[in-house]
Amino acid sequence: MDTAAAPSLRDQTVRDIAVNRPGSTAIFRRHKINYCCGGDASLAEAAGDRGVDLAGLVAQLDALDRSEAALAPDETDALIDHLLERYHEVHRRQFPEAIFLAARVESVHGDRPDCPTGVSQHLAFMFDDLEAHHQKEELMLFPLMRRGANPLSGPIARMESEHEDVIEQLKGLARLTHDFTPPENACGTWRALYALCQEIDADLRDHMHLENNVLFRRFG
Ligand SMILES: [Fe+2]
Ligand SMILES: [Fe+2]
Repeated sequence: MDTAAAPSLRDQTVRDIAVNRPGSTAIFRRHKINYCCGGDASLAEAAGDRGVDLAGLVAQLDALDRSEAALAPDETDALIDHLLERYHEVHRRQFPEAIFLAARVESVHGDRPDCPTGVSQHLAFMFDDLEAHHQKEELMLFPLMRRGANPLSGPIARMESEHEDVIEQLKGLARLTHDFTPPENACGTWRALYALCQEIDADLRDHMHLENNVLFRRFG
């Protein structure tokens, strides 16, 4: 047990590390440690749950360049602008492209057992859900935040619950694409699809992390 005044990394929550240590989210994603929703577990607990070597994980987190600039602006209005430009608008470009690529792969390689059959439909379903979620944030929640309304616990709880649904959808996407790993002999379209799906996974997790763990916490 660490008795130092400041909690050691292993005793800090995954959420706090994700907020305070730029670059840590990529490490968490690599080890499949959930940092955007349900990040209440300590690093030690999360590593135990995932069967990840704790000492190795701490070493990777310690090796991050602490001088790296924060990845998102701090001020609330600027943070909301960042969320809209870097995530909402980016998802609106990523999903149609991924759905297009998925439909191509499924139509050309549908007879192969390793074809990700159903992935285009899964992506289309995710995009529909996400667009409805974006609309609620853009038309209702974010304008209230910009006007300084506080607390906003009710609408925030709804958004957080929808984020949990996104996590489940991402698990489905990872299953369909074998953790974004194309077969050895996959064509360029197939590889491009899985790379884009992996990018979508990373962006959605970072997006929800900034909302859940940074922005929403100011309006509890
Ligand atoms: Fe959002
Ligand atoms: Fe959201």
